[in-house]
Amino acid sequence: MTKYVITGGRPLYGSIDISGAKNAAVAIIPAALLVDGVCRIENVPQISDVTLILTILQDLGAEVRTVNRTTVDIDCSHVRNQVVPYHLARKIRASYYLIGALLSRFGSAQVPPPGGCDLGGRPIDQHIKGFSAMGAEVDVRGGYIHAVASGGRLKGGQVYLDIVSVGATMNIMIAATLADGMTVIENAAREPHIVDLANFLNSMGADIRGAGTDVIKIRGVDRLGGGTYSIIPDQIEAGTYMAAVAAAGGEVHIRNVIPKHLECITAKLQEMGVTILEEDESLLVRRDGPLLRTNVKTMPYPGFPTDMQPQIAACLCLAQGTSVLTEGIWDNRYRYVDEFRRLGAQIQVDGKVAVIEGVGQLTGAPVRACDLRAGAAMVIAGLAAHGVTEIDSVYHIERGYEDIVRKLTGVGADIKVVVTPDEEEEGQSNVG
Ligand code: EPU
Repeated sequence: MTKYVITGGRPLYGSIDISGAKNAAVAIIPAALLVDGVCRIENVPQISDVTLILTILQDLGAEVRTVNRTTVDIDCSHVRNQVVPYHLARKIRASYYLIGALLSRFGSAQVPPPGGCDLGGRPIDQHIKGFSAMGAEVDVRGGYIHAVASGGRLKGGQVYLDIVSVGATMNIMIAATLADGMTVIENAAREPHIVDLANFLNSMGADIRGAGTDVIKIRGVDRLGGGTYSIIPDQIEAGTYMAAVAAAGGEVHIRNVIPKHLECITAKLQEMGVTILEEDESLLVRRDGPLLRTNVKTMPYPGFPTDMQPQIAACLCLAQGTSVLTEGIWDNRYRYVDEFRRLGAQIQVDGKVAVIEGVGQLTGAPVRACDLRAGAAMVIAGLAAHGVTEIDSVYHIERGYEDIVRKLTGVGADIKVVVTPDEEEEGQSNVG
């Protein structure tokens, strides 16, 4: 069992470099299956979700070579296997991208239903709607999703998404890349990682237009060749450290970011009394006065991201006054609230709405990282709390945050990693 032990109450000063975006990496790496040749991918975050998705590709027969800490070469030219093993796929939500990638490349795929963090129901009906519109037969039997393109190759199709889904938009884009003809995705999601995936595929020879708008057109091509691509900085990792400075106080340069991607987070923190100054590819974040209350509703990009909801909740717990937080994406993303209450927070949840009574000061206590972002929120609360906060189940945090302990100690936080070898890590269900 690995724990983080945080002694809170120390403001943060210095700079933090942001890593490559997790939710771009976990789509771009499976999309390398489409490429006939070597794909060099740079700015790859060193997180356990990436390790897992690379392991799945290797299991399928890909050659993966580490060039340096953040660069990998992936060669899927000799992959023939279209069956993804259950024991690997169930650990990661993003394994659903393997359906689109294998279908696109081989016209068939067998992938177990993806694992899932407990955020409420996590269906993939919109992904399947897209594959069906491209002529695939999709059914579930023997614990696997079986997808087969009629005639052995997907055909371009028209897909209207009933829900703005990041995963479905990206998966359909991947599947359509090697399809025969033009695919149009309407009501597409617009997150920065969707644009990043399109840029990656285009740099390898795909023909994708409109990514970043709600209509994406993909003209299928016969082949993608190799190339080099660098993943964008992680919007949510950056937002998490911005929230950490807001909660703990101090002044930190958040470096290697795309400020435009952070506007939704910047605007809310400014409303709360945090000073944020844009400096080229970095943001200066300063909080020296009190935190003010505000209301937040999570929405698809460019709205406030659901993956920042627990972290902003940590800040609202410390603010003056009552704030209303509304979750607009997931059915249940408030499982962490009991953990916050252990630290002295006052939160009432009714369905998708949380009413947070700011208490000004939290007090350290033992808490659990219920999932990736809830875990990051516990770290933020621990940094601000008076006394010692012990966080367990931190493997959730390490799925999505590269070197979080090193990055935070580098700006003055007091965090120790404590490993107790005699206890087994509990069932590592992953999401993301
Ligand atoms: N939905 C459906 N049917 C579908 C797909 C989605 O009903 O076929 C619903 C979902 O249940 C949800 C909403 O649509 O209510 C949005 O889901 P979306 O498909 O956008 O989410 P996702 O692709 O499963 C990705 C991220 C999540 C992030 C969401 C929303 C990855 C691997 N995961 O999930 O990231 O919360 O988009 O932005 O990219 C995280 O990083 O902590 C994380 C949970």
